[in-house]
Amino acid sequence: MSHRPFIARSALMGLLLVATGTALAATDDETRDWRRWLRMFPNIAPATQPAYLQECGSCHLAYPPGVLPAASWSRILAPESLADHYGDDASLPDALVAELRGYLMANAADGSARVRERAFAVPGAARSDTGLPRITETPYFIRKHRRIPARLVTDNPEVSRFSQCNRCHIGADRGVFDERQIEIPGLGRWKD
Ligand code: HEC
Ligand code: HEC
Repeated sequence: MSHRPFIARSALMGLLLVATGTALAATDDETRDWRRWLRMFPNIAPATQPAYLQECGSCHLAYPPGVLPAASWSRILAPESLADHYGDDASLPDALVAELRGYLMANAADGSARVRERAFAVPGAARSDTGLPRITETPYFIRKHRRIPARLVTDNPEVSRFSQCNRCHIGADRGVFDERQIEIPGLGRWKD
């Protein structure tokens, strides 16, 4: 029996203790910088699947799969829903729909380990105007955007709809929805 693994583990523990000690000894300023840095990490996984990016990213942002639960994606992908997609025709061949379905199901909000994606799966949304589920009608979305006045959205020709996430969230295609990376056209950087 070798004692090497033990030594390696002890060394690792030692390192961890030093790191923790350093973090605890950090000044308030340093802690704030560190938090800011951490918040910049994309905590919503961006859409990556090529067919999805192409077919579902031409009229609006290819929404990250983690911003709706599986049941909602499933309803959106039903053939009759795609034929009347919030007023547009977004019909696709069956094989392509099956591919998109597999991708969205595997990465939906309700199965996610990411805290912010799971927030989008909390039920209670009001029924939408079109009968199809909307990201913008999830309770989490509504809560996060209720302080934004209409003049910055619907009355703003450069935004016009909340469904145009990337008009304000400049890192949306990378999954970055952080409060510090928002620039509303006509207003500039969002300040809390
Ligand atoms: C032909 C253009 C077009 C294509 C292609 C398209 N969409 Fe849309 N999509 C729209 C329009 C228009 C709306 C409604 C926007 C609004 O009301 O603000 C919409 C809305 C949505 C919404 C609701 C956004 C909200 O308000 O929360 C989702 C989700 C969505 N689309 C997903 C998809 C998916 C998935 C695909 C690929 C299968 C897709 N879209 C392809 C035009 C399109
Ligand atoms: C009109 C500009 C605008 C549009 C369009 C918009 N958002 Fe936002 N969003 C904001 C602002 C501003 C905040 C921060 C609100 C606050 O600080 O109270 C925010 C907050 C968020 C947050 C929470 C971020 C955090 O750090 O807590 C998420 C997630 C989010 N938006 C997702 C989306 C998604 C997804 C879409 C598209 C379906 C979207 N937003 C469309 C302006 C917008």
